[in-house]
Amino acid sequence: MMHIIHPTAKIHPLAYLDPTTNITVHAGAEIGAFTVVGTRGEFRREGEKNGNVIIGKNTVIREQCTIQISIEGNATYIGEDCYIMNKSHIAHDVIIEDNTTISTGSLIGGYCKIGKSVNLGLGAIIHQRLEIGNGVMVGMGSVITKNVPPYLTIAGSPAKIMGINQRGMERAGLDTDKISNLQENLNMTLKLSGNYMENEYANNMANFIKNYDKVLTEMIK
Ligand SMILES: CC(C)(COP(=O)(O)OP(=O)(O)OC[C@H]1O[C@@H](n2cnc3c(N)ncnc32)[C@H](O)[C@@H]1OP(=O)(O)O)[C@@H](O)C(=O)NCCC(=O)NCCS
Repeated sequence: MMHIIHPTAKIHPLAYLDPTTNITVHAGAEIGAFTVVGTRGEFRREGEKNGNVIIGKNTVIREQCTIQISIEGNATYIGEDCYIMNKSHIAHDVIIEDNTTISTGSLIGGYCKIGKSVNLGLGAIIHQRLEIGNGVMVGMGSVITKNVPPYLTIAGSPAKIMGINQRGMERAGLDTDKISNLQENLNMTLKLSGNYMENEYANNMANFIKNYDKVLTEMIK
C-alpha cells in the first residue's frame, strides 16, 4: 500500500490518511484537521481492501470530512480545484469532477458521479449511484433521489427543478445568449419536445435525460 503525496500538498498534522490503503494527493491540494481519507467503504458485504483515493490539484478539503476508498476497480476520485467544506461525507467509488463545491455536511452516497462546476448547498444528501450533471446548483437541505440533468438549479426533498443555474453557467464562462435560450426553452427541453437542438447546452441536457430511466425532469410547482 502506498501514499503518493505531492510535496506542495498541505496535509494537516491531525488529518488521518489510512496507512493500509492507496492515496494520491496532487500538487497544491489541502486536507484539513480530523479529515479521514482512505478508510474502507461502508458496505455490509465487505469488499477487498484494494481500492484507492485520488485527490486532484489545488483541491481543498476542510475539517472532519470522510473520504472512503473505492471497493470496485476505479478510484474514489476528486478532481482539480474542488472545495469540500467541513463534515462532508464522500463514500466509496464516488467521482467528483473539477471545480465543484461541496458545502458543509453534504452526504454523497457510494458510486455517485458529480459533474464539473457543480455546487452542493449546505447538507445536501445524494442517494447512491446517481449522477449530477455539470453545472448543477443543489439548494441547501435537498434530498436527491434521481439523476440530475446538467445546468439546473434544484431544491427540496425530494429535490425538484427551480430553473436553470444561470449564475453558475455564467461563472463557468458559458455563452449568455445560449443560457437565456435554454431558460426560455427549458420545459420543452425537459420533455424532449420541440426544436431546441441548435443549442448545445439544451442538446447536452436532452442527451443526459435520454441516457437514464430515473431522471429528474419535474419542476417545483
Ligand atoms: C436553491 C437556492 C440556490 C435558490 O436561491 P434563489 O433562486 O435565490 O431562491 P429564493 O431565495 O428566491 O427562493 C425561491 C423559492 O424557493 C424556496 N427555496 C429556496 N431555497 C430552498 C431550498 N434549499 N429548499 C427548498 N426550498 C427552497 C424559497 O423558500 C422560495 O419559496 P417561495 O417562492 O415559496 O417563497 C438557494 O436558496 C440555496 O439553497 N442556496 C445554497 C445556500 C448554501 O448552502 N450556501 C452555502 C453556504 S456555505
